[in-house]
Amino acid sequence: MNRGTLVTFFSHSGENYKVGTIDKGNARIIAEMISHILGVPEYEICTENGYPDDYEECSRLAKKEREENSRPKLRFPIPDTSDISSIILVYPNWWGDLPMAVYSLLDAIDTKGMKIYPVCTHEESGLGMTDRMLLQSYPDASIMKGLAIRGTTVQNNVSGVEKMLETYLEDCGFSIR
Ligand SMILES: Cc1cc2nc3c(=O)[nH]c(=O)nc-3n(C[C@H](O)[C@H](O)[C@H](O)COP(=O)(O)O)c2cc1C
Repeated sequence: MNRGTLVTFFSHSGENYKVGTIDKGNARIIAEMISHILGVPEYEICTENGYPDDYEECSRLAKKEREENSRPKLRFPIPDTSDISSIILVYPNWWGDLPMAVYSLLDAIDTKGMKIYPVCTHEESGLGMTDRMLLQSYPDASIMKGLAIRGTTVQNNVSGVEKMLETYLEDCGFSIR
């Protein structure tokens, strides 16, 4: 079941909402755990220009990109997804939506028939509109049941998050290592 699965993530380190300044973003920590639990590769969605460490500046840029519905250029080559049937998509909730860079990746790959599992880290709004936005933007893909995890939980309760992920992944039919 795990064959043909790729974990992709977008994550912001630096000053972060409610959890202070962190070296590793919450979505990155979650993606690394999933990759380890399932034994599958990961791909980082990273923009060419990056985002400011400062929370307010990062928020301003994120808001502007969202208002412009922009597709920021990605730093790393688009992964070969010809053998990929399932993507576990890990991202922070940014203004109720996905960070625009996540759309940059999904627009660049063939999502037809692909199963997309949304795993969203947030502080209070859960998945927000992200699962609906995925449904609307990629109608040829199957948007599967999502999971929302608070950033503060990722920072303060690693073993709890691991258990949450294992339960979710097993429910989705993946094999746990
Ligand atoms: C630009 C920006 C917008 C955000 N908007 C929301 C929001 O609308 N709702 C919410 O619950 N959290 C919001 N957050 C908080 C993040 O979703 C949360 O801190 C998340 O865990 C960050 O993940 P990361 O460390 O992988 O980037 C926002 C954070 C940033 C930087």
